[in-house]
Amino acid sequence: MVRSGVVLGGVLLAVALAAPRTEAQERTRVGANPELVRHGRNVWQKKRCAACHGIGESHSGPDLAGVAERRSLDWLYRWLKDSQGMLKKGDSIGVALMREYNNVPMPNAKLSEKDVNGLLAFIASEESRLARAEERARQRAQP
Ligand code: HEC
Repeated sequence: MVRSGVVLGGVLLAVALAAPRTEAQERTRVGANPELVRHGRNVWQKKRCAACHGIGESHSGPDLAGVAERRSLDWLYRWLKDSQGMLKKGDSIGVALMREYNNVPMPNAKLSEKDVNGLLAFIASEESRLARAEERARQRAQP
């Protein structure tokens, strides 16, 4: 009993060490917190993010699927709290994005820390929902 526990622990440790968690995976884990995801979905609707963004499709603004892999968490927090300020300070990523998206500056949404955490959790949960749907479609397509 004790022995198998030790073996299992060793296996889990090996798996954990073999796959160091990236920031994006940390977010996906946060995405598993249903209360936070719900809060994020509310903020997403209330602040009308979907007027300009899709998750898994592009609108007038960038597709937000995979954004936690493209950007550092630090950048995302700063951007979501004050996109206008970052553009004014000439943030190189923000300015390049703005050029790419018809020079439309993203408005400030006045988000709290909890709102930002919720939005990132919501985006992560939408990404995994999409990934599951794609996987099901792929399985159905197999002869
Ligand atoms: C009026 C349109 C508009 C609204 C509303 C809007 N955005 Fe944006 N967003 C943009 C544009 C356009 C960009 C590209 C940068 C720029 O042009 O300022 C952007 C960039 C971003 C980025 C960076 C994307 C990347 O690839 O790095 C994130 C993250 C983001 N927006 C999240 C949000 C969230 C979350 C909301 C809701 C709270 C929101 N946006 C509301 C237009 C909008």
